[in-house]
Amino acid sequence: MDGRERGAGVVVVGQVGRDLVLRTDGLPEAGGSADVAERWEGLGGKGANQAVGLAQLGVPVRLVGVVGEDRAGALVLARADRDGIDTAAVVRRGRTALLVDLVDAPGSRRLLEDVPPESLVTVADLERARPALASADTVSLQLQQPSATLLAAARLARRHGARVVADGAPEPDVRDELLSLLDVLRADAAEAELLADRPVHSARDARALARHLLTTGPALVALALPDEGDLLVWPDGEHLFPLADVPVTDPTGAGDAFVAGLVAALRRGADPVTAGRLATATAAATVQRLGGRPDLSGLA
Ligand SMILES: Nc1ncnc2c1ncn2[C@@H]1O[C@H](COP(=O)(O)OP(=O)(O)OP(=O)(O)O)[C@@H](O)[C@H]1O
Ligand SMILES: [Mg+2]
Repeated sequence: MDGRERGAGVVVVGQVGRDLVLRTDGLPEAGGSADVAERWEGLGGKGANQAVGLAQLGVPVRLVGVVGEDRAGALVLARADRDGIDTAAVVRRGRTALLVDLVDAPGSRRLLEDVPPESLVTVADLERARPALASADTVSLQLQQPSATLLAAARLARRHGARVVADGAPEPDVRDELLSLLDVLRADAAEAELLADRPVHSARDARALARHLLTTGPALVALALPDEGDLLVWPDGEHLFPLADVPVTDPTGAGDAFVAGLVAALRRGADPVTAGRLATATAAATVQRLGGRPDLSGLA
């Protein structure tokens, strides 16, 4: 797209935690109990899941996040290392975030999240990541992190010429400045409504929102349309990718996989339609799996 694909790789700023994924054939009533049919524990969190996806797609990736000084922190960091993710800029303090994903029927999930305040990335944490942020070709921001951190990371990335990608909806107090620093913005359906400040009922509403967002900074906007697909809009074009016809086991992490696919393709110089094709394929692969950890080995 713009010749930055030969850069030093991608930095993901976001959540790193421990995932506990439980599948049951129905949740118990209060006072009852239920057998767990399937259980998985390991590295999770939105930032880590995206970084795992990027690594699986062959992209050099560094993670900026926080894990605890506890056993869970040591375990998830070791797993990230084995996944080929550079974790030198991951800070350790406090307790590791725990994300519990309960799946009681195909496609139906409930999340229980223990995200200690100290597990959020601070502006000071970015100091350690400064060389990585300054040399990255792409910086990918998970917008669930503190606004001040996101702004500082985006400013630094921008100053050094990196492509800046964000997933989510920025908080209103920093929205205008953050949007102005982005190259790519992706939002799920709930986040699109936050961005629009009103319901987004139809593809037409989403298209209008995306066109508006293009005037605020990003050059590519991807919006998830529930039950319909993914809309990609850029200044001189747009494309609606219908939802893949695949069995949905658990949608958790599919948005993070979508971003991994989008970023991997864009940094190789792909046009938006080609990038959208990889992004929707990585998301479709992930909805078929239990938990948020992707397996994109077949797509690399
Ligand atoms: N029923 C489905 N069939 C096929 N693909 C789907 C389906 N639902 C979602 N997807 C794909 O998964 C992507 C992520 O969906 P979703 O709206 O859950 O994102 P998200 O909320 O950001 O996910 P997360 O934050 O948990 O990673 C969509 O953009 C779409 O490409
Ligand atoms: Mg998401």
